[in-house]
Amino acid sequence: MGFYDAYDFSRFKMLSRINTGNWVTEPCPEFINTIVEMRKRSGKRNFSVAEIGIGVGATTFLASQQLSEEDTYYIFDFEDSVFALLDDLKTIPEIECEIVAIGNSHKTLDSYNWNLSNMLLEMRRRDQDGMFDVVYLDGAHTFLHDGLAVCMLKEMIKPNGILILDDLFWTYANSPIATEFEREQFPEDQWNARQVLRVQDIFLINDPKFKRLSDSESWRGVFKRID
Ligand SMILES: C[S@@+](CC[C@H](N)C(=O)[O-])C[C@H]1O[C@@H](n2cnc3c(N)ncnc32)[C@H](O)[C@@H]1O
Repeated sequence: MGFYDAYDFSRFKMLSRINTGNWVTEPCPEFINTIVEMRKRSGKRNFSVAEIGIGVGATTFLASQQLSEEDTYYIFDFEDSVFALLDDLKTIPEIECEIVAIGNSHKTLDSYNWNLSNMLLEMRRRDQDGMFDVVYLDGAHTFLHDGLAVCMLKEMIKPNGILILDDLFWTYANSPIATEFEREQFPEDQWNARQVLRVQDIFLINDPKFKRLSDSESWRGVFKRID
């Protein structure tokens, strides 16, 4: 039995693809629990979270309902995906927060990284020390995309904020949905490699500004900014 079997998503454009087989249809508990606990502990308004890579909205649907109207939830993915999901979410009365959809094109060398870089430049112009309380990175799962994303996100996380990396042990080789086109894009060792784990090992594990909260066996890496 899937997590969402009791819900009727059939009226939606994007959420209707939950439970259709090919898509991630389990929400990320670490992201949702972190949002709930941080909000409870700090009692703060204007909470700001980001999900990078939305799939069909399985996590967005639940996580956005943990926020209230002063809060903001940024969703990053291809532009057709983020706007389809935004249309669905706007019709759900339980979702009170502002959802900001930030989409990129499907051009081969485009990704959420360009949009993140625009936001980072703007953040620096405003002399802000971070802009997100919690970020869930669950996008391309390549060292090329997510290494760069993490470099920028480390600066975009607020003091005491949390960065979560999904799928540390995932590989293209073991993915049932990896395509022949993707197969041709990688040398053999990278096709078989745990690319997100490499991102964690290169950019986060030895960074004194970040403390790992997850254990080494965990499928997700949870890091807190501690400086
Ligand atoms: C595993 S899914 C995300 C699942 C989602 N976080 C959830 O919990 O249901 C990965 C997402 O990353 C997005 N993605 C992969 N490469 C991308 C790129 N170059 N630009 C934008 N989005 C990308 C895919 O479109 C897909 O929606």
